[in-house]
Amino acid sequence: MSDKSLLRVLAGEAVSPPPVWLMRQAGRHLPEYREVRARAGSFMALCMDPEAASEVTVQPVRRYGMDAAILFSDILVVPWAMGQELRFVEGEGPRLPPITDRAGLDALDVAGAAAKAAPVMETVRRTRAILGRDHPGVTLIGFAGAPWTVGCYMIEGRGGREFHAARRMMHAEPELFAAILGKLEEATIAYLLAQAEAGAEALMLFDSWAGQLPPSAFRRWVIEPARRIRDAVAAAHPGLPMIGFPRLAGPLLAEYAREAGMQAVAMDTSMDPGWAAANVPEGIALQGNLDPEALVAGGTALEVEARLILQALRGRPHIFNLGHGVEQPTPISHVERLLEIIRAA
Ligand code: CP3
Repeated sequence: MSDKSLLRVLAGEAVSPPPVWLMRQAGRHLPEYREVRARAGSFMALCMDPEAASEVTVQPVRRYGMDAAILFSDILVVPWAMGQELRFVEGEGPRLPPITDRAGLDALDVAGAAAKAAPVMETVRRTRAILGRDHPGVTLIGFAGAPWTVGCYMIEGRGGREFHAARRMMHAEPELFAAILGKLEEATIAYLLAQAEAGAEALMLFDSWAGQLPPSAFRRWVIEPARRIRDAVAAAHPGLPMIGFPRLAGPLLAEYAREAGMQAVAMDTSMDPGWAAANVPEGIALQGNLDPEALVAGGTALEVEARLILQALRGRPHIFNLGHGVEQPTPISHVERLLEIIRAA
């Protein structure tokens, strides 16, 4: 049995107080991140610089004493590694040339992706070595985007909320859509296996736009790929735990938990943790799900909301986290207060 609290929870144990980390814990709310980010020039340059990326991965562990570090990278590294151009426009988000036809599909190079993503694996190796030396109780989490969510950006060419082009292609051109997501699934499996080989101790699959799909498509394009990815990881690395995040799944979270084979499911901000505790099988850990805006606000909102979650999940394998990523205006003192609240529980 591991002495790392996060790995114990992922093995199905209820640990009190629960281990804690925050999605996007390394990012623009931290001055030390902004400094490294400015020196790197672009966001992608930072992701592909193992020394700088491992430094920002460890920053929130050093500052706050988080129980996990999440690899500093991005879900859009996989399409970029397959050859789709990618840039991040300041204040607007990602831009890619959208894939609209067979030619766009055929240009995606799955076999060549590993070489382009090699610096990410070097970041994993370095981070694991730093944590082993300086923070031995901390778990290193690797991650990838799930095919549906990454496909949304590849087909749409940019971020959004609705992803009309991706949903329209799914219904109107199902063969093209299936071929894009199939290639993406293959590349995602290879990318996660490489992270496991480089030293990631747990893997998280982000499906941020899962809640956009009707239930039939949710089963086919969220649950089934998650299951195949999970099985491929388990075949090569038995015992390596995975966390699935089908954001805004609503009641389909329970079906995802039963079918996908993950050791934990992450709850978004809208999920009632009491409902999740009653409907997700007991041995599967729950992660989440404080409103990131309660962390920005601090004060009574933070105290009340954090305690409601702790109470709802007492006695259950629980990893405390947010329901989505840390927002840039989050004061450092509020994150510190949150950790006090959790650790006094
Ligand atoms: O959580 C972490 O600290 C680890 C690193 C991480 C990032 N992105 C760093 C990042 C992780 C796990 C992600 C996942 C990710 N990326 C998701 C899934 C989770 C979610 O938020 O729903 C998605 C949808 C993306 C795509 C993405 N990356 C967008 C839409 C943007 C632009 C929005 C923004 O905040 O600027 C990014 C950029 C990005 N990824 C930043 C960071 C720290 C900000 C870029 C910068 O610092 O210049």
